[in-house]
Amino acid sequence: MNRLLALEFVRVTEAAALACAPEMGHGNEKRADELAVKAMRQMLATIDFDGTVQIGEGERDQAPMLYIGEKVGSGQGEALDVALDPLEGTTLCAKGHPNALAVIAVAQKGKFLHAPDVYMKKIAVGKEAAHVIDLHQSTQDNLLAIAKAKDCRPQDLTVVVMDRPRHQQLIADIRSLGTRIQLITDGDVQPALACGLERSGVDVLMGIGGAPEGVLSAAALRCLGGGFQGQLIFHKKGGKGEIDHAQIERAQKDMNIADIHKVYSTEELAGGEVIFCATGVTAGSLLGGVTFSKNQTAHTHSLVMRSTTGTVRFIRTNHDLNKKDLLISNQ
Ligand code: FBP
Repeated sequence: MNRLLALEFVRVTEAAALACAPEMGHGNEKRADELAVKAMRQMLATIDFDGTVQIGEGERDQAPMLYIGEKVGSGQGEALDVALDPLEGTTLCAKGHPNALAVIAVAQKGKFLHAPDVYMKKIAVGKEAAHVIDLHQSTQDNLLAIAKAKDCRPQDLTVVVMDRPRHQQLIADIRSLGTRIQLITDGDVQPALACGLERSGVDVLMGIGGAPEGVLSAAALRCLGGGFQGQLIFHKKGGKGEIDHAQIERAQKDMNIADIHKVYSTEELAGGEVIFCATGVTAGSLLGGVTFSKNQTAHTHSLVMRSTTGTVRFIRTNHDLNKKDLLISNQ
């Protein structure tokens, strides 16, 4: 994959973040998301590649833009698959909470899992513990193995878990070892990413979140040499754990998922050469959020990495909005 594409894709996450950032704290998830989606799509069209959305805003009948299967890019150049989330953490942005991101990952054709829009049971760790995690094992066994690999006590680890009723048992199991927990309200791509970065203060992500976000997290951890495992969970969204039989049928028929209980590895979720980019929308622990200053100047903070080299670049950018044809809310 042409390495120059990495910089092109940072422009894409920057554009999405710039577009939705003015909506921060306005309580309108839908509008913030729409702005990010439009801007991301517009910027993708300027890049010379023949892209297909694999992980996007949903199926064609549900999402007008950046739907699964949509062709993106100029159509000239390398044929690549794209996994994206123009605004990861719509509620975080709408409430002005930390860690909302614009995210994109790109891989060679066929290398992303065609994940249905269901839940996924996840575990994510950094490099040192990448080879010891196993979703088939208990929470405690995983934490003990991770602590051993990191040469520390289970009490020294910090695990991020989404604050959801479905995680009651998981939280009790983690607490039983004295392991520290950080409960988050939304956005589990950011903590997965944090697991792969040294001194981020996060060692492990555990629990059930969105499957598309799982593919994006795996893409990030491929670049960072970390470990990720995911298992699709076919529970009705917002329900009390009822099985979603329609989704199981769809996954089996349309998405070629033969074994619905399979535990996917990092490579099975995001294989081959991968580029991953993220730009902060609201200020967070890894990336600063978008800020605006006088004379129509905006500032973004992004991360770009490639699995081929493992290079991690943090990019701070000043944007002169007078000179850019960007979609920005209320500009
Ligand atoms: P949105 O950006 O679509 O709002 O999703 C954010 C998110 O928090 C993901 O990061 C996470 O994987 C998923 O939603 C969790 O879903 P739920 O809120 O149903 O528990």
